Amino acid sequence: MSQDQAARLRAMAQGQRPEQPLFAARVVAITSGKGGVGKTNVVAGLALALAQQGQRVVIMDADFGLANLDILLGLSPKFTLEHVIRGEKVIEEILLDGPMGIRIIPASSGIQELTRLDTMSELRLVQGLQRVAETADWLLIDTAAGIHDSVLKLLMAAQEVILVTTPEPTSLVDAYAMVKVLHLREATKPLWLLVNNGQNVDEAQETIDQLQAATERFLGKQLNVLGMIPNDPHILQAVRQQRGVVDLFPRSPATHAFQALARQLLGQVSLQPDGFASFWRQLASDELQ
Ligand SMILES: Nc1ncnc2c1ncn2[C@@H]1O[C@H](COP(=O)(O)OP(=O)(O)O)[C@@H](O)[C@H]1O
Ligand SMILES: [Mg+2]
Repeated sequence: MSQDQAARLRAMAQGQRPEQPLFAARVVAITSGKGGVGKTNVVAGLALALAQQGQRVVIMDADFGLANLDILLGLSPKFTLEHVIRGEKVIEEILLDGPMGIRIIPASSGIQELTRLDTMSELRLVQGLQRVAETADWLLIDTAAGIHDSVLKLLMAAQEVILVTTPEPTSLVDAYAMVKVLHLREATKPLWLLVNNGQNVDEAQETIDQLQAATERFLGKQLNVLGMIPNDPHILQAVRQQRGVVDLFPRSPATHAFQALARQLLGQVSLQPDGFASFWRQLASDELQ
């Protein structure tokens, strides 16, 4: 990026603060060390449970390797983030209406990473996201798994990060690696632990204890515990029907767990003035230095 472009972008970043920052969405990124641990299902479940509690929720698919948030909810987008980045559509034109009033920003697999965009594409994307964020209480971002630069950048820019792990040793080890990398980059970033797919409460609690013990001992870091979602066959049934479990099976154990987590988030995550503006300034900032 030329110095001139950088200066322009920086100036726009300053000028683009929402006029009413209190209405900017809380930006929460959901990630995991290892793939296949249930991240996308967690994003959808939390979104629906928050919507049930009167919240305006937008979910964004930022897993460009395996973009499938839309498929999970039975939606078939005609246009995706790719069109926004290319300047062919504005974000309002790609937004999909999902169940219970949630809105979805779809991606397509294999598109350019968000953090490697040229200045114009980045401006298009970020200005669009900001407009969306001004009409939402929550922007939940489904990120790819693993310690890649593009994922880390999204995580660092988000206000809060939810780290999903299962009790499996492989998932736990990868979750620890993720905590470590995030901690080394920004020790104060709020990090929430969510244990998914445990066979019972004891197993999930053991997972939490093990990870907490390791992070406290080796990193001196306290993890916040968001909670647990049990293994529940209703989730698989809902996936097969391309419906959200919260919507399809309102009395299932998974739905009750998502509702409890949503209440926990509502109680614990405060609205940050400047939340979204700071999110995208951070996203852009590496390029600006
Ligand atoms: N709590 C759960 N109980 C039962 N099955 C689950 C649970 N969480 C996830 N799954 C299953 O695990 C698979 C992977 O979930 P997904 O959300 O796509 O993971 P990720 O986004 O991390 O790759 C899905 O087929 C889903 O049905
Ligand atoms: Mg996924």
